[in-house]
Amino acid sequence: MDESVRVTLEDGDESDVVRIRGTADEVTVGDATFRFDIGGPDAEQGEPDGGIVVDGAADADAEVEPEPKADENDRRYVAPADAVPDRGTLRFEATAGRRRVDGILQRLDDEGIVAWENSCPHKPEVQLDRGLGALIDGDQLVCHEHGARFNCDDGYCTRGPCRGRSLSPIDVTVRDGDVFLTDDRFEAGQRLD
Ligand code: FES
Repeated sequence: MDESVRVTLEDGDESDVVRIRGTADEVTVGDATFRFDIGGPDAEQGEPDGGIVVDGAADADAEVEPEPKADENDRRYVAPADAVPDRGTLRFEATAGRRRVDGILQRLDDEGIVAWENSCPHKPEVQLDRGLGALIDGDQLVCHEHGARFNCDDGYCTRGPCRGRSLSPIDVTVRDGDVFLTDDRFEAGQRLD
């Protein structure tokens, strides 16, 4: 490498800016010594070069903060789809101004993820998921209070004190592995569990 490269090194409260030339060298800041090899050990094995391999950062804080996923900044983002359990539900909150509605995300075998209000039609104050996931029995969701059974795919109650009524749906979609609200009644979503 003919050109020099400027590198900023940080170790605790200390930082230093150094210029490096050549393809392999070592630089020191504070108590830490960084050995680097531009192109890396795989360069000779046909791997693309141009990277800087840093080795031996024994005392330095070399942790790299992951970039937040852009979609997580979307106010209608609810949760990663893979956080929704196969058997059970994941709680979230949908908001519109000061109005807040508790919801649950539920996975269907081949049909993605659906969402319902976290409330039993028999007694709306009863939450289907109290924090550990709603009861799922086969292809039905069961209210723990009096045993009402609801079809997982359409929310229809087939048995129990609210037979013939249905869970209240909340519209969601899965995009690039994440669940987003698509329900026009709400402005924002937030995972609760
Ligand atoms: S509160 Fe759900 S069945 Fe009674």
